[in-house]
Amino acid sequence: MSFTVAIDGPAAAGKGTIARAVAAHFGFAHLDTGLLYRAVGRRVLAGEVPVDAAQELAPGDLANPDALRSAAIADAASRVAVIPEVRAALVDFQRAFAARTGGAVLDGRDIGTVICPEAAVKLFVTASAEVRALRRLNELRAAGHDTDFETVLADVRLRDARDAERAIAPMIAAERAVILDTSKMSIAEAVAAAIAVVEARG
Ligand code: C5P
Repeated sequence: MSFTVAIDGPAAAGKGTIARAVAAHFGFAHLDTGLLYRAVGRRVLAGEVPVDAAQELAPGDLANPDALRSAAIADAASRVAVIPEVRAALVDFQRAFAARTGGAVLDGRDIGTVICPEAAVKLFVTASAEVRALRRLNELRAAGHDTDFETVLADVRLRDARDAERAIAPMIAAERAVILDTSKMSIAEAVAAAIAVVEARG
């Protein structure tokens, strides 16, 4: 039987780190679904039509995830993510991943609400916009991108608004989701809290 952990929340709240750690702890597979939208966004920046790009997405598109982490690709991802046909083209792959035996952790914006409404465990990981912008700034600088706090904060707010206000699959805490606010938590504390939720519900 499949056991799915759905982790949703805004950018840079810590859900990717938590998802990876939860998957490693329980021996589950992990899918960062944002990479799918980023890979579509990258194809669109290269000139493809969004829906075609989503339908033609192949494993090779995800081969080098670090190359998908730029602010420009994040912005393109959140723009293609409002298109219903783009989202529809990515559903089967995500559901098949969730259905694999041995357990799966998926993180994104609509995992608990749309992709895996029957998930055994649902977490909504969040943090204040300022805390998330600071985390993202540090990540971007560590990756060699030259940017500043105000720019990153504006990007975070713009992407939050786009993700939360879109008509299809908006970012929202699912019913039964446990809300984890990581604003004042260390990574270790947030991971421990998430593992405790999985253990309690599993
Ligand atoms: O999580 P990440 O920042 O990589 O996601 C990039 C963008 O992809 C998000 O801003 C969002 O617009 C979109 N996304 C989505 N649904 C998901 C995962 C990501 O709409 N499940």
